[in-house]
This record gives sequence, structure tokens and C-alpha cells, in this order.
Amino acid sequence: MSYAPFDVMGQFSGVAGDVRDPYPDFHALRKDSPVAINGDGHWEVYSYDLVSQVMRDNQSFPSGSIRELMSVVMGPYPLVGMDEPEHGRLRSLVAQGFRQKSLAHWDADLVGPVVDEMIDGFAERGSAELVEEFTYRYPAMVIAEVLGLPREDHPFFHPRALAVINVSVRPDEGIIASEELRDYFEGIIDERRAHPGTDIISELTQAELDGERLGDEEILSFLRLLLPAGAETTYRATGSFLFGLLSNPEQFAKLRDDRSLMPTAIEESIRWEPPLLITSRECVRETQVGDVTVKVGEMITVNVGSANHEPTRWNNPDSFDIFRDLVPHISFGVGVHMCLGMHLARMEMATAVNRLLERCPNLRPDPDRWDADDVHIHGQRFRSPTTLPVIFDAP
Ligand code: HEM
Repeated sequence: MSYAPFDVMGQFSGVAGDVRDPYPDFHALRKDSPVAINGDGHWEVYSYDLVSQVMRDNQSFPSGSIRELMSVVMGPYPLVGMDEPEHGRLRSLVAQGFRQKSLAHWDADLVGPVVDEMIDGFAERGSAELVEEFTYRYPAMVIAEVLGLPREDHPFFHPRALAVINVSVRPDEGIIASEELRDYFEGIIDERRAHPGTDIISELTQAELDGERLGDEEILSFLRLLLPAGAETTYRATGSFLFGLLSNPEQFAKLRDDRSLMPTAIEESIRWEPPLLITSRECVRETQVGDVTVKVGEMITVNVGSANHEPTRWNNPDSFDIFRDLVPHISFGVGVHMCLGMHLARMEMATAVNRLLERCPNLRPDPDRWDADDVHIHGQRFRSPTTLPVIFDAP
């Protein structure tokens, strides 16, 4: 099967939602009532404290309601849609593949070379379209690397990984790609069980808790979860970070001159434009949320984006300001499902932007295209720019 190229605009008219700036509405809704019935007839929480309460209280608001939906592409064990105690056991095992000590090695040996290879594609040209040529491509390549997939398999893996990410736009393709990846990974798992290396798949085959190991189906589900959970989020977050920098040249110049600002700049960007704006839960135990009693069986939408723009926590919350004091945001979630890949995501974004700054001197918006293409961040459920036309001083 040949896969259609990734369709950025299709994503936005589809699941991501055709919304340019949702934040004024969130302010009005939050002010009106931090928890209210939304257009889908579900409860939606808008304030930081209530978003945090619902995400932390997995006994009253578990995640199992999204399990069936996710299983279509992820198989029977989609970690993010599973509940305790099954989730806790699985998470403890798969977390062994994400050890902190692996990060330094991944950064130098895997992420840096992937990013450089992408930049090689346009470095000589002095111009690039950074979404198409860079941000959406590199995180799936990083996943291939941390899984230790052989180089010669990348042409098989990459289009299928992107088709899985794109499943909401072309469901048939996404489902077929997921099945093909499943079959492919099955062979790799057998091989790594027999001859383990230092990659995540090998770690998953060896991970042990109370004498128990992961089953093949659990590993196969987890590997496919990494594409939407790890590659899509990071591609969108990197695009929004670059957009924030390119549209705020003074901040960009200061970051270029002082790279020690990178971690706080990344944190501010992820607060300002979380790539995943909302997630959902189902109420299984009657619970008071603010002024509302949420009843058993009712669905609740958790609005991470609104929580991150709460004016009581951040001054001018809608503006991108890498110099503001760091106050914890909630873009990586909180509670038992808190993002397992957040350190990897931060490291990927830092490496991607650092390498761009080093290899593309004087990186700036393309004056002929930036306004003409109406470059902006877009989306309702997922957010990122659809295009980032740039120019720079070619060597
Ligand atoms: C900026 C990038 C990222 C953001 C904003 C992000 C955000 C999130 C959020 C909000 C959740 C919790 C969802 C919920 O509670 O319903 C989550 C879970 C998860 N993320 Fe990330 N993520 C990012 C990058 C990554 C990366 C790079 C990986 C791995 C390669 C990853 C792997 C996961 C996994 C496995 C889970 C499920 C954890 C569980 O259910 O126990 N994420 N992420």
C-alpha cells in the first residue's frame, strides 16, 4: 500500500478543529463558570485548580472511556486509556524503557544526528518551510531511533508512522498502517528478546516487575501509542515554539545569544500553546467539582489550554514571554497518566531549536510569505502552525 503524504491542512479541518484563537472564549467561559456544560453536552472544566483536581482524582474520573476508541489503532492495551490497577502495573514496566540515564545518550547519539539530517535537506538553500520539512518529520524519526529500528527499515516505518498520526483524517489508511506496524514490530520483538540491545524495545522485552514481564500484545500496543502520544505532540509543540520565537524577534535574539534561556523558553512555549488542548474522563463516583455535582456516567472534558491561561497564575497569559517567572503549567497532565515522555519531548525541542540556530544563521520569517500565507497557530483539540516559511543566511 502506498500512503498519501501527510496532510497538514486536512488535520486542521478534521480533528484538530478550525479555530485560530480559542483563548478569548476560554477566558469568558472560565469567568462565567469554571465548570459548565459544553457544546457536546459534557461537563468541561476551565480553571487550573479544577483541571488539576479532575486529573489527579483518577478514582472518580478514570480514563477507561477512551480505551475502546484508542484500541482501534493501538490494540488492546493503550496505556493512556487504561485504569488502575492494570494501568499502574503496565506503566511501571514500560517506564523502564524511559530511564533518565538514557536521555543523555539519546540526545548526543540519536536526536542530534536525526535533526542534522533533516536540516541537511535545506541548509544550503537559505530558505525552508519548517513544518513540512522539519517539525512534523523529525519526532517520528526520533521514535524510530530510540526504538533501535534498523536504518534500512526507516522507509517502511516512516510513512506508516505518519499515517497512524494522521488516522483521524484518513481512518482507513491509519488502521492499515497500524496493522502493518504491528506485524513488523512482532518480528522485531522476537529478535530483541533473543538478542537485547540498549534500545527501548529491548528494554521493554527485559523489563520486570515482581517477576513478571510484559506480554507481546502489551509491548505492541505501547509501541503504537508512542506515535500519537510522542511524535504528534512533539511535532506540534516544536512548531508552536518556533512560531512564538519567529513572531517575537527580540526574545528570539536574546535566546540566540544566551542558550541557557532554552529550558525556560521551552516551558513557556508549552504553557502558552499546549499541543494537546483537551483530554477527557468519565465520572464513576459522584463528585463535587467547584459548584457542580458531577454524577456517575457523565463525561468531563479537561481543558488544559484554558488552565494554562488562567490570569490568576500568569500576567497577560495569552502572550508568549520567555522571561516570565516559571509557574508550573499542566500541559503534560498530572496524576497517574502524567506524560511519560516529557523529558524526551523537552530534550528533542531543545536540540531541534539549538541545531536550527547553529546551522541556519539569522533565521527569520520569510518576508514574502509570512504575511501572505497568514502564518498562525491553529486548531481546537490539537494546536500548531500549519506553515512556517523562513529564510536565513546560507553558508
Ligand atoms: C510537548 C510534547 C508532549 C506533550 C504536551 C504531552 C502531553 C501529554 C499529556 C497531557 C498526557 C496525559 C493525557 C491524559 O491524562 O489524558 C500524556 C501522556 C503520555 N505521553 Fe505525552 N506529551 C508530549 C510528548 C510525549 C513524548 C515525546 C512521549 C514519548 C515518546 C510521550 C508519551 C506519553 C505516554 C506514553 C503517555 C501516557 C502515560 C500514561 O497513560 O500513563 N509524550 N502526554
